[in-house]
Amino acid sequence: MTLTSLLTSSFALAAGAVAAPARGGGTISATPPSFFNCSLQPAHAFEPVTLRNGKGIEARMIAYGATMTHFLVPDAGGVQRDVLLGWDDATQYCANAQHTYFGATIGRVANRITKCSFELEGQGYNVDCNERDWDTLHGGVVGFDRRVWTAFARSSSSVKWSYFSPDGEMGFPGDLSVNVTHTITEDNEWLIEYSAAVGVKATVVSMTNHAYFNLNANVDNTETVMEHVLHMPSASRVLEVSGAPDYHLIPTGKVLDIAPGSAMDFAQPKVLGQDIAQGTVSEKGGYDNAWIFGPSPMTSKMTAHRVTLTSPLTGIQLEMGTDQPSVQVYTANSLSGMDHLQRKASQSFGSEPQYYHYRGAITLEAQQYPDAVHHENFPSTVLKPGGLYEQRTSYKFSTADRQVWV
Ligand SMILES: *[C@@H]1O[C@H](CO)[C@@H](O)[C@H](O)[C@H]1NC(C)=O
Ligand SMILES: *[C@@H]1O[C@H](CO)[C@@H](O)[C@H](O)[C@H]1NC(C)=O
Repeated sequence: MTLTSLLTSSFALAAGAVAAPARGGGTISATPPSFFNCSLQPAHAFEPVTLRNGKGIEARMIAYGATMTHFLVPDAGGVQRDVLLGWDDATQYCANAQHTYFGATIGRVANRITKCSFELEGQGYNVDCNERDWDTLHGGVVGFDRRVWTAFARSSSSVKWSYFSPDGEMGFPGDLSVNVTHTITEDNEWLIEYSAAVGVKATVVSMTNHAYFNLNANVDNTETVMEHVLHMPSASRVLEVSGAPDYHLIPTGKVLDIAPGSAMDFAQPKVLGQDIAQGTVSEKGGYDNAWIFGPSPMTSKMTAHRVTLTSPLTGIQLEMGTDQPSVQVYTANSLSGMDHLQRKASQSFGSEPQYYHYRGAITLEAQQYPDAVHHENFPSTVLKPGGLYEQRTSYKFSTADRQVWV
């Protein structure tokens, strides 16, 4: 959720150098560290791994970032539509100068860690400062989204990816073994199951997937998802973040109740664009906030929290279920159309090249509270030796009657 223009070249810190990052004027560079070179990534990292169920869903992943690149679901008329932003040329996930995180696995810690440092068990740690010198975003400049994962268990509808993140990677303490299993169920769910364990040293973990959904699949060349309908019945609170004039989007520690009828209120189904002008917390305008789920009357952990998103144009409906306490909703405020991120063929109509547009997608990133490592009133993200980090999120697809909304 950021442009590479925001990346700093402070990787030296994570590599063990003692220099502190410059405050208020760090070098802005679009260049990841020198060891990270797309032409040095193995070719197999970009080869498609196809998953299917027997109900017409076809998904494609690549080992690079354990990234979901395509997700085709039948619309209300039975036509298969690709509802995920991405690239046809999979090497672009690495080579493109814009670090969009399209469909990628995010870790070790999703979202922002303020000031790129924290204390854990009495020890201070500096982690890679990749959003100017304000914060560590999505695990640092070479987070899990830029690592090549290993597929070690596969069926036609499922793949289990693993990654080993050594002690000190991006500055984080502790060896961490991670598994992420993606399954397309016969219930038309895209199920993501994460697990992680540390060696002898504690660490912090909060993972997510950064899928950008456009349930219109750009049918009729629609540019935005502003007419999608969003419903978050159990999201009763939202984290306060630093907004104007700096827009660092760092949680202040306050958990705010959502005023009924306000821009943040999606307790009833609401058109995404209806109040977005008042919901602006980011510099570029639009939502980029962590909603907090309230206590749930439901017993099953997995179905504890639900978010529903519907396209009136295709009738495609997505229902997210998660065991996580928070969801970051981001309305692709950094895409501009001018940045020439060309749409996939599956999302292009007509003969002219088409580009991903400002507010042309929405992410639903289920995760722990952002910056939890700095706030004792947030649920802990600490993972200790002998413990197991687990998270389960699913996106279930169905079709609604298009007439309902149009
Ligand atoms: C990346 O690796 C290729 C192949 O070894 C090399 O030619 C190129 O100069 C490297 N690029 C950078 C920026 O280091
Ligand atoms: C990852 O999966 C492998 C194989 O099933 C298992 O041996 C290992 O314990 C798993 N690790 C975690 C952290 O779940």
